[in-house]
Amino acid sequence: MRIAIFGSGYVGLVTGACLADGGHHVTCVDVDSERVARLRAGESPIWEPGLEELLRGNLAQGRLEFTDDPAEALEDARVAFVAVGTPQAPDGSADLSYVDDVARRIGELARRDLLVVNKSTVPVGTAARVRALIEEGLAARGAGHRVGVASNPEFLKEGAAIADFKHGDRIVVGTEAAEDEELLRLVYEPFNRQREKIIAMDIPSAELTKYAANAMLAAKISFMNEIAAISEAAGADIERVRQGIGSDPRIGYQFLYAGAGYGGSCFPKDVAALAHTARQAGCEPRILDAVEAVNAHQKGTLLRRLDELLPGLAGRTVAVWGLAFKPRTDDVREAPALHLVRGLLAAGCTVRAYDPVAAGTFAAALGEEAARVEFTDSALDAARGADALAICTEWEEFRAFDAEGLAERMAGRLIVDGRNLYDPARVAAAGFAYASVGRRT
Ligand code: UGA
Repeated sequence: MRIAIFGSGYVGLVTGACLADGGHHVTCVDVDSERVARLRAGESPIWEPGLEELLRGNLAQGRLEFTDDPAEALEDARVAFVAVGTPQAPDGSADLSYVDDVARRIGELARRDLLVVNKSTVPVGTAARVRALIEEGLAARGAGHRVGVASNPEFLKEGAAIADFKHGDRIVVGTEAAEDEELLRLVYEPFNRQREKIIAMDIPSAELTKYAANAMLAAKISFMNEIAAISEAAGADIERVRQGIGSDPRIGYQFLYAGAGYGGSCFPKDVAALAHTARQAGCEPRILDAVEAVNAHQKGTLLRRLDELLPGLAGRTVAVWGLAFKPRTDDVREAPALHLVRGLLAAGCTVRAYDPVAAGTFAAALGEEAARVEFTDSALDAARGADALAICTEWEEFRAFDAEGLAERMAGRLIVDGRNLYDPARVAAAGFAYASVGRRT
């Protein structure tokens, strides 16, 4: 099938590459011509395991194309995915201007029957808004094609995006006509062979499913961060509590890790947007507000700990390990490390930072302040001369506790761990003071 994909960001690119790999002919459109040129050359603008290989393979086979011209992408397309960004507006709502732009372009340019599928995370009612904008464009030029709309939210995780797309738990498909559902079944046929994964529903339910899923996961994390604070105060150990409750299949072990707060491009924005939708609809989002408030507080936990345990922060050197919002990505959006490093710089500290892949994106996000951070090529190098080490992301390479390597390089003996990587007894036995989240130290 010929498929157009609007937006070559995380979701658009992974969707395009995977659908092409499944045998479809895919044309990805992006307004950023420079990005398009890089993609045509098989260069991925984001660091995602396996993505570049998939891009190159499918470009070479001629199944995947990139363009900045929407008309070209729509020429033969039967289905058009909308996978553009929906950033957070100042009032917490999702900014739909990119989605609206695409809908207008489709209204102006569609030359045949088309199914427009929202893959961007968009509030309930967006499909109807997209349909109205498209119909306006069609009517203005007297075009009589049938342009259907559907909602097909994406559940992929950064760092595991390809596997999540190809072998995801479910494919949620919201449609208003049986023929549209049928068409989406054909699109997903290559990824729906092992067992039936399609969960078909109406459009508003599909739109809300995406937000409800992310809000539920974010709620699990904030809940555990709150239990971690109680654990610390009550002399309990959150890791034991986690195992104790996770063994109940109704609770499950996943997403029960207390830490330095959740970040990324999805949870913070989606929880805020859902709360905004709720208010607009006349509902009071009490749980969502609490999820956000706990997370905002949690992001300050490493800085508070350092301030408490390293009296007179000004003039101290702090090593920071892990700059991405989570391992296996170079994405630093809403990363706890950004919050920490900004705070350390403001307090007058010297910061030596290390991340296996995210130093560049982190420096860009810090802007001018990046000049005050020394980025190192290895974790141990960052520890050189440091009074304290702060761990923000659980990259695999930080997991083995290298007491000797750290003791040789660090000036001080303090580790503040936002990911509970080490056994407190072992760290103490090696002569370090150790503060983690929700555990006795
Ligand atoms: C999240 C969802 O997990 C995906 O299902 C969803 O498709 C995606 O958002 C999206 O809406 O596009 P992602 O943002 O890539 O995926 O990252 P996660 O792995 O979910 O982690 C989010 C944050 O929660 C990270 O900062 C992570 O460190 C934190 N986290 C996660 C915890 O603090 N504790 C946990 O137990 C799990």
